[in-house]
Amino acid sequence: MLYTRKGLMAALLALALAPVTAFSHGDVTPQPVNTDALPDVGEEWLSENPYRAAAAGDEVWAKAVQIGDSGFNQNCARCHGLGAVSGGLAPDLRYLEAEEYGDEWFVERFRHGMTQNGTTKMPAFGEILGQKAAWAIRTYIETRPDDGALEPYSDELHKIRDQLAAGEADVPTVIATLEDISGKVDTASGAPVADSAASRAAHELEKDPSKQKEAADMLSIGISAAE
Ligand code: HEC
Repeated sequence: MLYTRKGLMAALLALALAPVTAFSHGDVTPQPVNTDALPDVGEEWLSENPYRAAAAGDEVWAKAVQIGDSGFNQNCARCHGLGAVSGGLAPDLRYLEAEEYGDEWFVERFRHGMTQNGTTKMPAFGEILGQKAAWAIRTYIETRPDDGALEPYSDELHKIRDQLAAGEADVPTVIATLEDISGKVDTASGAPVADSAASRAAHELEKDPSKQKEAADMLSIGISAAE
């Protein structure tokens, strides 16, 4: 590959400036979120998250987390941080209470964005992404593990990861242990269940016990993010 020096500098400069520009003007193109797999919730905007496990069941909840993950990371992460861990540009959304009070505030900002003195600090997403995407993203955000929430289980998770990577794990035992750990991981929002590397790996093995390698990779990512 051949780059001219000037072309390369221009490309680097564009990269360096891109997030700043997007942030100051809020002129980002929203990325569509495919929500076909989620139950419809009607036209009228709700004031409470309909995709929580207590209201919609575990399957819908897990689907909402998955769809919300990609929706968030494509539309919100540039300002609110990858995985909803804020880098300081915009508020850390993990701390928004997982109850109606927090939901109302979430939906208000999601629908209308935020403009101050004629500057769009956050674009409005309501019309473009719609209500189902809003609640999927909300479900993803509120189920982020709190800072350091996986730390107490780090040794145990390393051990399990190594067994899985070597293809030598006793899968039913590993699933039980991972579920036990995932039930103890705290969220910052107060939501009862966190979507953590432990729960994702357990889910993967439940679907297909031969996927030890994939489950090991999920744990590796979770462990390194927690350290
Ligand atoms: C261009 C940057 C930007 C993007 C993109 C963005 N936000 Fe924001 N968001 C902000 C800023 C800045 C604030 C703080 C506004 C204020 O001062 O109240 C904010 C505030 C919020 C709040 C209120 C948080 C609180 O604690 O008061 C929520 C909820 C929120 N955003 C959700 C989202 C979601 C969901 C997305 C993606 C669909 C998103 N934002 C995309 C910049 C952004």
